[in-house]
Parts: sequence; C-alpha cells; structure tokens
Amino acid sequence: MAPAPSKPPMPAPRKLFVTTALPYANGNFHIGHIMEYIQADIWVRFQRMNGAEVNFVGADDAHGAPIMIAAEKAGKTPQQFVADIAAGRKPYLDGFHIAFDNWSSTDSPENHELAKQIYLDLKAAGLIETRTIEQFFDPEKNMFLPDRYIKGECPNCHAKDQYGDNCEVCGKVYAPTDLINPYSALSGAKPVLKNSEHFFFKLSDPRCVAFLEEWTQNGQHVQPEVARKVKEWFSVRTNPDGSTSEGLGDWDISRDAPYFGIEIPDAPGKYFYVWLDAPVGYLASLKNLLDKACIEVDIDDNTAEPSGMSLERYMAQPELEQVHFIGKDIITFHTLFWPAMLKFSGRKTPDKICVHGFLTVNNGEKMSKSRGTGLDPLKYLSLGLNAEWLRYYLAAKLNGKNEDIDFNPEDFVARVNSDLVGKYINIASRAAGFIGKRFGGRLGTPGDDGTALLEALRAAAPALREHYDARDTARAVRETMALADKVNEYVDANKPWELAKKEGAEARLHDVCTVCIEAFRLLTLYLKPVMPALAQNVEAFLKIAPLQWADAEGALPAGHAIGEYKHLMQRVDAKLLDQLFELPPATASEEKAAAAPATPAKPATKNVAKPVDPDAPGGEALAETIGIDDFAKVDLRIAKILACEAVEGSTKLLRLTLDVGEKGEDGQPTTRNVFSGIASAYRPEQLVGKLTVMVANLAPRKMKFGLSEGMVLAASHADEKANPGIFVLEPFPGAQPGMRVR
Ligand code: MSP
Ligand code: ZN
Repeated sequence: MAPAPSKPPMPAPRKLFVTTALPYANGNFHIGHIMEYIQADIWVRFQRMNGAEVNFVGADDAHGAPIMIAAEKAGKTPQQFVADIAAGRKPYLDGFHIAFDNWSSTDSPENHELAKQIYLDLKAAGLIETRTIEQFFDPEKNMFLPDRYIKGECPNCHAKDQYGDNCEVCGKVYAPTDLINPYSALSGAKPVLKNSEHFFFKLSDPRCVAFLEEWTQNGQHVQPEVARKVKEWFSVRTNPDGSTSEGLGDWDISRDAPYFGIEIPDAPGKYFYVWLDAPVGYLASLKNLLDKACIEVDIDDNTAEPSGMSLERYMAQPELEQVHFIGKDIITFHTLFWPAMLKFSGRKTPDKICVHGFLTVNNGEKMSKSRGTGLDPLKYLSLGLNAEWLRYYLAAKLNGKNEDIDFNPEDFVARVNSDLVGKYINIASRAAGFIGKRFGGRLGTPGDDGTALLEALRAAAPALREHYDARDTARAVRETMALADKVNEYVDANKPWELAKKEGAEARLHDVCTVCIEAFRLLTLYLKPVMPALAQNVEAFLKIAPLQWADAEGALPAGHAIGEYKHLMQRVDAKLLDQLFELPPATASEEKAAAAPATPAKPATKNVAKPVDPDAPGGEALAETIGIDDFAKVDLRIAKILACEAVEGSTKLLRLTLDVGEKGEDGQPTTRNVFSGIASAYRPEQLVGKLTVMVANLAPRKMKFGLSEGMVLAASHADEKANPGIFVLEPFPGAQPGMRVR
C-alpha cells in the first residue's frame, strides 16, 4: 500500500555520538568545565527532543607526568589518585543536570587496548618513525624531565626560576637547553643531557597534509573562525626555540619511563604521550557504554544484535555523526592530530568539532585552566542557587562561536529575575489560579486574537530549532523571550484580574487564561533543552507527557484538566551572589587581621564588632610587637592614582587605577586595579593625580566587581560611629611611584 501522499515519510532519526573534552584527573571540575558540559548537554537534550538516538559520553583524562607527580606528592599511586578524583565527579554532574550516558577513564582496559591498536594501525600505514632526541634528564629522580619541570635563568633577561619553555618575565620562548644554570623542579638536581629514542607520528607526510587541509578547510567540520586559525598552521609553525618552520611538523608521541600512561607495543619503557591516548578515550568510553548497555539496534533492516552492539558495528553505521565539544585551547589536538589518527588508522573521522571560548568571571579576569577561579560550582549549589539559573544564563550568552564569555553577577541577576521569572514564569502564575478556581482546572477555547498569538508562537519553532542545532542558544533564548514579551502584551491588554471581577466576562476570562496556559506550554517546550528539571515540573503541572519538539505543532484541547499551580521558580537573591564570591573563611580572617580601613566591609567581617578601647590611641590597643623581619614582609610602595571611579552596585567602594612603576613583559608600563572602601570619604575626582601608599605584595583578592591587586593605606578611628572619617595617606612632595616605603 502506498503511503498517503500528504504525509512525507518521517526522516530517519539522527544517530549521534557526542563527547566533551576529557578533563585532567588532577582536580575537581571548575566552572569552565561545567560550562562546556552544559553547552553540550543542552545540544544533546535538544537532539533527543527531536528523536535523535544519542550516546553522550565523557571520561577522566588520567595519564601524564603532572598527574604522576601530583600522585607521588599526595602519597598515592596514580591509579588511586585519579580514582579519588573520579569519585568526586557525580555531585557536579547531577547538580547541574548534565546527563552523560557514561563516564569512564583513559586508564581503562578499553582505552589501553584501543590506543595500542590505533598506534599499530598507524604504524602499518607507515606513519610512525623513531628518532633520537637529546633531552634533559634528572639524575636523582632517574627520569627525563618535561619542559615544565626544568627551571633556570632566562637566557634573555636573566630572570631567575623560569620554566623550560618560556620566560614569564620577558615572554621569550626558548628550548630548555637554552636556560642558564638549569635545575630540576622535582629534585633541584642539575639535569644532564641524555639521548633517548622517541616515536613520532609523521604528520608532515604528504598524505596527512593533504587530508587535513581538505578536512579542516571544506567548511563541514569546524566553525569558520576555527578553520581560519587552523589554516595558519599549514604554512608556519613555532619551534621549541622560538624560531619558525614551514608546514606541519611531526608529532612526538612517546615519553620515557617512569610515566603514568600506556606502554607502547614492542617498546619496553616507552609510553604514549598523554595526548595520544586521551582522545582515544572518547571511543573507549563509548565502547565501555555499548558493552554495558546491550542495546539492540538494527542496522541493516531487521537484524537485531543479540547482546549489545560492538563498537565496530556502531561506528560503521553510515548515518552516525561523531561530535566533539571542546574549548579553544585544544584545537590543534582535535583538528589535526585526532582526525589524522582516525583517518590513517582506517577509522571514522569526526563530523563536527564544536569549539567554545573561555568563560571568565567578573569582568574578564583570567581564569587559570587547571585551578579555575571565582565561581566554585559546588559552592554555587550549596548556597541554594538554582542550577537552571546558571544553565539559562550560560545559554543566553553562548552563541556557538569561538568567543569568550563573562559571568557577571549583576547581569546574571537581571537575566534571571527580569527575563526568566519576570517574563516567562509569570505567564503561568498569572493565569493558572483562575483556571483552577473558576473553571474546575479545565481549559477552554482560545478566541481569534489568542489563536493568532499562539500561531505566531508555533511559527517560531523551525527557526528556534535551527538556532539550537547551530548551538546558537543565545539567539534561541532571545527569540523565545521576545515571544514571551508578546504573550505578556496580550495579558496586559486583556487584564485577566479585571475580567475576573467583571460581570459577564466569564467566557473571555476562560479564553484569555487558556491562551496563557497554551503559550506557557510552548515557551516551556522551547526552553526545555536549557531547563530540563523545570520543564518536568511544568509537565506535571499541565498533566502532559514529556514534551517533544514535535509537540509545538499540537495544542492542549479544550476540556483538558491541568493540575494545581505551585510556584515554579524563585527570583535570585543578589545577596547569595555576594556570598558566592566571598573568600573562604580562613582567608577572610587573615584579611581581617591585616585590617585597614581600606578593606571593604564584607558580610563575613561586618558582624564582628571591632574591639573599641576609648583610652587607647585611635580607639584600639596597639598590636603585638613584631621584629623588623615581619615588617619587611609587607612591601609598601608609593603609588600614583591614575584613575578613580565609582563602582556600580557598591556604595562603599572606589575603583583605583594605580601606577607603582611596574612594567609588563613587553616593557610597557602596567597598572594595578585596586578596590578601596573609601567612597564615603572621597569623590573620585579628589583623588585622581595624587600619590599615596599601597601594600604592593598583598595576594590579589577576587571581589564581585573584579580583581583587587593590592590595598591603599588609610587611617581611621576604631570607633567609626563616634569618630567618623577615613583619611588616605599621601607622601611628602618628591616621592615617585614605585619607591619603597620602609
Ligand atoms: N585533558 C585535556 C583534554 C583531553 S580531550 C581528549 C584538557 N583537560 S582540561 O581539564 O584542561 O580542560 C577540559 C576542557 O575544559 C577543555 O575543553 C577546556 O577548553 C575546557 N576549559 C578549561 N577552562 C575553561 C574555561 N575557563 N572556560 C571554558 N572552558 C574551559 O584540556
Ligand atoms: Zn626573560
């Protein structure tokens, strides 16, 4: 029988294998990791709502010298060390509703086996070569030293204690062998040069170059801005000594024992460099999942796998798409090394590498890749901040391009409170009560104006679908909020709360509230990839099956009974964000000990009354006697106030830009950013151009408004109520910025 001509055949569901970068197992997740997982999770949930069959996997990146050394320091075996890190992953993933189907480790048996097999296949393809290279060796530790573990004097500016690959003072790039008086950062021993045989993946082979140029530049696999960046690497590359060469270089894929990693077949004492086996971990985690899951999938017509599908068969499905989400710092590995490894070992190559920028916190302050700073994800959760607020906020900022985004507390509060709660949640809360109380919980029939509005909402579905598919969640969220605006205009024009009091307006009230509920259902559907838990609560409230994307076409029928409305989402309390960025208690009290009036009052210290002694000078007893050495620890410098401005959102703080005579790596003068709690005593213009004294070696301190890089000295009475006033210190004329105060 021929199918009805009006109904086109359902397209086959997409089959997707999706990963996020495998985090190093040397620390807990930081907010940058969570951002990447949220971006990928939103995409995966969106695809599932469209019927896709997805395997979404992650794993810990367990290998490498830094983890081996960290484990030794912690007195653990590397295996125990990474297992302990892995054990802490769950609260983050569950807490932020990140629904990986599997989480494994690159130290798994699957990965050992797969990495070796891929290597052997590359070798058979003639792409592995050995070469003898000369490298620094630590005679005490009996190991070759990675560049990061060799330190010495910079050959260029003679700064001491610089790393083996580049100088942090003058910025020069060099080889470890160029360092003056090199020493091992592990043992302090003087390293010796020693020959070692290394294995190389011949990326410079014309086959590799031709494949990679096509693969990266054909517009199919990476964003345009990423393709442009990668293109440069085909013409020039930077060598370890800072010089440049033409074209792709071969890739050193081996390390000598002792190394925590996978031993290279037929090469005792040689291990794969961590980045060789790390991406193989994507496949290993998938294999681990497939072996566990026993999924039955028919690939050619009706042949079902009796007990799970092998990795080989799964990967061989012609329609399977392999998608990797990564950050901008690991583009080379994912657009050159990894596709080439797969291609020339005879495997499926990735379909998409989705690159995101970095998340910064509080005005673009740089976040360390390994440590992360500023926003501790577990602290966020433990303060009772809603995970879906963060998901919504990040979704509203991520546009699918390789661009950095910033977490800004004020912006966060505004978007959650005005957009999410104010515009979207309110639609339900304004209508649901009337449906319940006046119409027995049953929906009515939308009138003409309401029907037109709902049609406009439904008509947005195809465009929103494209934005989600392109990972432009910023646009999807923006356009959904514009729809919410339309609904709110309709509510304001019809005022159900007035209709409710008007005689004879019963039918219109029913109509208007029905439109609101149906509009709320559609908006919820559009936001469901971003806020899955909220959507689930809405589904329960509306008494409907889990929303699928296709449900945008339908409507709740007249007479459908909805449940009782319970409040779905709170507004953010801005105070909680202050707490989120507050220092941990230990640091806060250290700071209190160093209390100067310039220390901005923070809630943690606010409640502690200062001991006031009316008979003592300035209202407080003298501090304990210290030696000159103690005093010498405090580096006081003359600072010139170059700029000074009020801090939006704070009545206490002024932001000062200070010149302390410092220069950056490029030899250009640099400035310090310092927040000072003196806004009650000075207007910004009174301070600009003045000299003052600052503590120049105070550890930088993260604040809600940005990083404070020091402290300005000022005098005040211990009993500020009775003796108000704050007085900034100013040196006698002649002092110059940078001079030390002793
Ligand atoms: N272990 C490697 C990846 C191996 S993939 C086969 C690694 N690990 S990482 O823990 O340093 O980073 C993991 C992911 O987090 C990377 O995609 C990285 O770009 C991302 N991020 C790290 N810091 C980040 C931000 N501040 N913001 C957003 N993502 C960031 O690299
Ligand atoms: Zn230098």
